[in-house]
Amino acid sequence: MTDRQKAHIIGMGAYVPERVMTNADFEKIVDTSDEWIVTRTGIKERRIASEEQSTSDMGVLAARRALDDAGLSIDDIDLILVATMTPDYLCPSVSTILQRKLGAKMVGAVDISAACCGYVYGISIAKAYVEAGMYRNVLFVTSEKMSAIVDYKDRRTCVVFGDGAAAMVVSCQAAKFSIDAVCLGADGQQGSLMQVPAGGSQNPVSLDTIKNRQHYFTMNGREVFKGAVRQMEEVAKECLAVAGIDMSEISWLIPHQANARIIEAMAKRCNLPDNKVYNVIHRYGNTSASSIPIAFCDLVAENSVTVGERLLFVAFGAGATWGATLLKKIS
Ligand code: ACO
Repeated sequence: MTDRQKAHIIGMGAYVPERVMTNADFEKIVDTSDEWIVTRTGIKERRIASEEQSTSDMGVLAARRALDDAGLSIDDIDLILVATMTPDYLCPSVSTILQRKLGAKMVGAVDISAACCGYVYGISIAKAYVEAGMYRNVLFVTSEKMSAIVDYKDRRTCVVFGDGAAAMVVSCQAAKFSIDAVCLGADGQQGSLMQVPAGGSQNPVSLDTIKNRQHYFTMNGREVFKGAVRQMEEVAKECLAVAGIDMSEISWLIPHQANARIIEAMAKRCNLPDNKVYNVIHRYGNTSASSIPIAFCDLVAENSVTVGERLLFVAFGAGATWGATLLKKIS
């Protein structure tokens, strides 16, 4: 496939809520300390959506920025994809709500469920649609209101997560970033490591599930940590092998922003120096599917990416799911 036939990211935008929740704020609600959170996770603060602000509301704001950046109007979009693990409702999908709120044409609307891997999974789907010639301009949005499913009585999880959204226009137009390779993986045997135990068809919500706090996100942090480091290294290398390039040719690694120690361990295993690894976890915490694209938008806003540079994104999330994406800045 020639570079021109590849799918490209021609516009991007991010949105994070105004409300900042610091580690000091957590010291007031659970038995924790700023020192513990910073040392174990690298997180200093995270953004939290207002009560009335939904996942789709944040997605709309990010989507408008991405459309502006692409120089397109919503009428140019012929498919909407949304990756989220915190949908507004179990039904209907966030992508259809987004279609209505953005005033889009009656184009197809698809939700993707891959937790913290939502961005790399979604990019692969958008790329496939565009390169197959089915759609010209796909609006791909990640949005997460993690604060809606986080148990603020559980210090093991609540300090880690934040809210936020990002959006990309993936297009057949050759501009900005080419999407050169994607690799995905999953292991359903690891499903119980991270889950929301109740509220779905297996365990519908009831007074008992609420009393037992089973509608909140649970995580075996230590096991996830080990799996994340191992699997992200493997899939990163697999993705580079698909593209036929070496790790030394990567200018920027943006790993899923789950924990600064995971990011450091990953970079070390990949022999990448700190100045090639982009990390914004201190500002936003873990925003699940939005963590990589929010970091990507920040990196681009700093004018830190120059033409010809290659970027590698790598993620690990509930499922377990993992994946990597390789981009090249072309204009
Ligand atoms: N403040 C103070 N103490 C705490 C806190 C806290 N916030 N949280 C846990 N502790 C305590 C625990 O109670 C435990 O004490 P104990 O030994 O007396 O029981 C001790 O600290 C160690 O607990 P661990 O859970 O083993 O702590 P760990 O060093 O593993 O850090 C963390 C926890 C930050 C969650 C880490 O395991 C992690 O980042 N894991 C990976 C998360 C991840 O990658 N998620 C990715 C995907 S998420 C998704 O898909 C949505």
